Amino acid sequence: MFSRVLAFWQQAPYSPLNGSPAAADGGPTSSPSPKSWPGVTALLASRRIRLLVPTVLIICIFLFFGHRYDALSSLPAGWRKEDSPTSDTGAPTKQPPIWDPSTGAPANDGTVDWSRFAYTQYVTDSHYLCNSVMLFERLHHLGSRADRVMMYPAQMFNPNAAAAVPAAANGRTSDDARLLMKARDEYGVKLVPIQVQRREGADETWAESFTKLLAFNQTQYTRVLSLDSDSVILQSMDELFLLPPCPVAMPRAYWLYPDNKILSSQLILAQPSADEFARVLARVEEAGGNDYDMEIVNYLYGDSALVLPHRPYDLVSGEFREAPDKHGRYLGNADERWDAVAAFNEAKFVHFSDWPVPKPWLDIEKTRWSKQPDCFERDGVASCVEREIWNTLYDEFKERRKRVCTHVPGEHLRRRRQRG
Ligand SMILES: *[C@@H]1O[C@H](CO)[C@@H](O)[C@H](O)[C@H]1NC(C)=O
Repeated sequence: MFSRVLAFWQQAPYSPLNGSPAAADGGPTSSPSPKSWPGVTALLASRRIRLLVPTVLIICIFLFFGHRYDALSSLPAGWRKEDSPTSDTGAPTKQPPIWDPSTGAPANDGTVDWSRFAYTQYVTDSHYLCNSVMLFERLHHLGSRADRVMMYPAQMFNPNAAAAVPAAANGRTSDDARLLMKARDEYGVKLVPIQVQRREGADETWAESFTKLLAFNQTQYTRVLSLDSDSVILQSMDELFLLPPCPVAMPRAYWLYPDNKILSSQLILAQPSADEFARVLARVEEAGGNDYDMEIVNYLYGDSALVLPHRPYDLVSGEFREAPDKHGRYLGNADERWDAVAAFNEAKFVHFSDWPVPKPWLDIEKTRWSKQPDCFERDGVASCVEREIWNTLYDEFKERRKRVCTHVPGEHLRRRRQRG
């Protein structure tokens, strides 16, 4: 009995999305503590009390479990293993309540103003432009409800000039500009011109990683979700915008944990504000030679960020290359058994990280076949499921890159592939 109560209590961290804060507190804190029942023995001497106490207890337990059951059944889609289309009674499943971070109160889906939220991408050069448009294509395809914002180098594209001259008729419209217009017109991307952040004597990686932090400056939004573009989105992540307010939420770099307790900046959920951006800029000013965006956000938020679960929000593709008994960091416990299909199904955001296999838009064919996941024996049966999933990730990326980025008459992608 106690362990069941404990189990429900431990559900509490997941419950802010489910209803009012009072409801989340209602269970365990309202349990009568022994101290508040003086003279229990004397009271029990009365027959009426002897009948009343168990009755009240039974009603309390009924209400408590009834309520918690309700909370569990309203976990947002994707947080439960399998969403049953109907509830036990056969009635349609109740829609999960939506949490409104600006008011801190539950709201109906219809009252959430999704234009206050945005997925953000940053682009520093033509290389990453295509990756970024590819991610937005996925969000468009998945029907995500928040805005899509691309921060791009201002010199890449002048929307006013391009609007005045049709792209096809204008020989000077660059391939980059054409791709930006495609993102805007086909995938509903809002284009925000920026200055790429550079530092005297620093390399390109530095510029790229600091430009990412301009997400904190997108104060036209209440909340932004910054995603690294060397990744693939498998499911919408709209639910993250509805988490309780917090300056920053990030997953942990689980592949380093517990030796290193570091947040992964591949996915940053942030609340842009002038103050927060000033803090970030000040920290960037102090940055040492080996400090990149990941170091900066860890200095600033390492001890205060809301930690997002890494399984759905930061799976790395290299996980599928590990031996079956080497998934302890991913699983986070010693009891669970690795299940590649379950891991893939749970993942919403997968980061391509397979050293020494190059990033998927480069020439991977040479290394790919020697480094692909092994087949393993499971319960006496050979299985290549990791290999299939891993190769599907790379094949799908390649196919999508071709489809999304080579629509233009321009030859830039073909040239780049030859160079790569
Ligand atoms: C931050 O945003 C403001 C307002 O949009 C803009 O004027 C400023 O240039 C931005 N700062 C940087 C470093 O991009």
